[in-house]
Amino acid sequence: MRFTDHFIQEVLDRTDIEELIGRYVTLKRSGANLWGRCPFHSEKTPSFSVSPAKRMFFCFGCHAGGSAITFVQKMENLDFPDAVELLATRAGIPLPQESAQGESGGISRRRIFEMNLEAARFFRSCLFDRELGRDGMQYFRTKRRLSDATIKHFGLGFAPNSFGALTDHMHKLGYTDEELIAACLCGKSQKTGRAYDYFRNRVMFPIIDTSGNVVAFGGRVLDDSKPKYLNSSDTPAFKKSRHLFALNFAKNYASEKMILCEGYMDVIALHQAGFENAVATLGTAITPDHARIFSKYTQRVIISYDSDEAGQNAANKAMRILGEVGMDVRVLKLANAKDPDEYIQKFGADRLRLALEESKTGFEHKAERILSKYDVSIGTDRIKASNELCAIIAEYSSPIEREVYMDAASKRIGIPVDVLRNSIEQIQRRRHKVAREKESREAQASLKNYGDRINPEASKNPRATTAEEAILGLLLIFEEYRNAVERGEVPLCREDFVTEFHRRVFDAVMSMHARETGFSPELLGADFSPDEMGRIQKMVVARQQLQQNGPAVFRSAVEVLQDVAKTSAAKEGDLNAQIAYLREKQAKLHKGKADKT
Ligand code: UTP
Ligand code: MN
Repeated sequence: MRFTDHFIQEVLDRTDIEELIGRYVTLKRSGANLWGRCPFHSEKTPSFSVSPAKRMFFCFGCHAGGSAITFVQKMENLDFPDAVELLATRAGIPLPQESAQGESGGISRRRIFEMNLEAARFFRSCLFDRELGRDGMQYFRTKRRLSDATIKHFGLGFAPNSFGALTDHMHKLGYTDEELIAACLCGKSQKTGRAYDYFRNRVMFPIIDTSGNVVAFGGRVLDDSKPKYLNSSDTPAFKKSRHLFALNFAKNYASEKMILCEGYMDVIALHQAGFENAVATLGTAITPDHARIFSKYTQRVIISYDSDEAGQNAANKAMRILGEVGMDVRVLKLANAKDPDEYIQKFGADRLRLALEESKTGFEHKAERILSKYDVSIGTDRIKASNELCAIIAEYSSPIEREVYMDAASKRIGIPVDVLRNSIEQIQRRRHKVAREKESREAQASLKNYGDRINPEASKNPRATTAEEAILGLLLIFEEYRNAVERGEVPLCREDFVTEFHRRVFDAVMSMHARETGFSPELLGADFSPDEMGRIQKMVVARQQLQQNGPAVFRSAVEVLQDVAKTSAAKEGDLNAQIAYLREKQAKLHKGKADKT
């Protein structure tokens, strides 16, 4: 739904941006602003700033920026209205009455949660139906050795072998084809355009978020057919890169550590065996978003992936991603079982508990994998092993960690610590150099606006782009410039803007200026994406210090735009266009003067 400006203002007034962002980022005060490490890109030194006075944030590294709403949008992957709704709920502001269906025809998250809950109830009742659910129940009880308590605890279900069972049931409850398809509970028939059951003849795993909403489903076949697991695609209520299976339970057992598995059944088997801190990603590799979720709940993660090569490679990647948010990462080694589920079936919970206690730190695990490849009593092997070990030690940013690992490596392969240290420092210097070069290449590219997704026309019009940014930055900050433009005291209109993105910003700024509710850049978020908001914020930040020189900068930027327009008109040899342009400008100036008198 579209909220009124007034409502959004109220939400922003009642949101403490410092407290809000402080829940995700450790902030330290320095001067008027608070600083921390940016949650939107990985960095070692803080370049992420929050201004409580202006109620804005901005990262000088990745140029993410905007209001509290923008922050929530980016952080929780929500669209603008959902972010407003979340902040409103947080602040205890009742939502204006809404129809279940969004104005835009879009289907609201709440509606999808409702549908999913009904579907979960339906799947569960099918599973517990003697006839319909016989195969599914047999599969869970006998094949997977789940107790009835576990089946109920996880709300497991069964989707009948039919194209219409769920669809018919949901129709009776008043849900439309369109809604069912949007929730990914149904597919859309190419022939008839009608909805049909997406999950058929599968045991069903509801995915429940930490607020208790059923956000999606996974469904497994009962035999060896493919695909083994079918998962809901992303919907407005579900992004698989941001959800963890069983986090709704695991979050309450997470204070010491959490266990990260590959699959639904591993998690369920672990919970049943008493390891209720286990979660899994949903048919996808772990993402930085997942890593941030872990860091919200725990200090330590034990990666318990499959013991095959693919699982171990995935574990290495997970180690890096979790390491980047400062997690203490361990890796579980499973001997003689392919995954935690099978390990429990074969050896029982107590043996697993021991294995978990013996889980290796990231370094130990990686070092073991390297050493297992080589025979260090052979010279050439020793060199290879030592090079690979140095390469992984060089990745640790803490000098203490490096010393500890060097010491261990030295003892293991019999090469003096000093020799290893030299080699590690060399690797680090080389990596720094490469990183610096990459950074400077990127900085140059961004200066030239190559590959600018937000303002794709920027690279073709560098001179105009710079002028436009200056103008918009000043218009956003200072009312007097907006007044001057509105009254026609400055020869500037939307057609003067060369780039479409800046023209849109100009329109939005001037129309907000004309509105009675008052000017507040935060409200631009309704019409601009979070990335665009970051760019807008960047224009503001760059001009905040311009109090004194502002008028001169503004004037010359406007002149640049006029000059660009004139030369481009002349280049095209289109005299008429130039004359028309000048006429229009004059008319506008006239009108401005007339308005004043
Ligand atoms: P695995 O193939 O390792 O399955 O997939 P598993 O968990 O051991 O399954 P069981 O024990 O045979 O039931 C691990 C995870 O990868 C995703 C699922 O989330 C699964 O739990 N996956 C796998 C899919 O999304 N689709 C597939 O076809 C297979
Ligand atoms: Mn398995």
